[in-house]
Amino acid sequence: MGWYSSELAAPLLKSAAPSGLSAWLTDRLARKPSGKTSQELYSDPVHHRPNFKLIQQVLNLKPEDKLLEVGCGGGAFLEEALRSGCSAWAIDQSRDMVSVATSVNARATEEGRLKIVHCDASHIPFPDAMFNYAVMSGVLQFLSEPVATFREILRTLKPGGLLVVTSSTKELRGTPAAPEPIANYLRYYEDNELESLAKLSGFSEVTVSRPDMTELARKSGIPDSELPLYGGNYGQLLIARKK
Ligand SMILES: C[S@@+](CC[C@H](N)C(=O)[O-])C[C@H]1O[C@@H](n2cnc3c(N)ncnc32)[C@H](O)[C@@H]1O
Repeated sequence: MGWYSSELAAPLLKSAAPSGLSAWLTDRLARKPSGKTSQELYSDPVHHRPNFKLIQQVLNLKPEDKLLEVGCGGGAFLEEALRSGCSAWAIDQSRDMVSVATSVNARATEEGRLKIVHCDASHIPFPDAMFNYAVMSGVLQFLSEPVATFREILRTLKPGGLLVVTSSTKELRGTPAAPEPIANYLRYYEDNELESLAKLSGFSEVTVSRPDMTELARKSGIPDSELPLYGGNYGQLLIARKK
């Protein structure tokens, strides 16, 4: 999150904005995006696409797969994933994002391959053991109850199902990708904390890494000047399995 905030919000926030305004802007731009600017940004979040490509590499989706996305934003990852022919279900706490994601993926919705629900990630309204994959990208840092969300994802995964999460490290704080004071509203996890969180929630075979995404960023059309922020220290990749 945040590249847009650096352009749109940071100058305003720097001018000694009261914390209520910072929180409001954080919600509007990232935590619960709403309004025309966010609707446009999240329908094609260019700076998130390297993460989407990374997740796709891990999943290698097939038409028979059933995928859950938690915090789908404007549905751009779903759009890429659905090209595999898979079926997908998604949730988001922002009504504006549910509406954008549904219209971005109108065809898959009509074909009955996609359902998007407005709800909080701590109560996912899908049955037990429904999915073989679950993904969450750019969402973890906003969650006030991460274990509740991980447990809900675990419940809805089939045995052997895989969870893939991408997130940002504290090293990204203060860069254009996570400008202050919005970065203040994000939670940062060390790799071992993230691993513990997933294990505590009941996942096994948990790994956390910091992959170098430079090439994925280049392929996503990120300008050369911004590529260093996709180097190995800034992005976290969690992969965990349900036993
Ligand atoms: C920074 S956006 C990322 C959106 C999308 N995953 C992407 O990468 O473009 C964070 C998204 O997570 C959603 N979100 C944050 N906390 C949530 C929660 N507790 N329950 C459901 N959705 C949540 C927000 O509404 C927002 O759409």
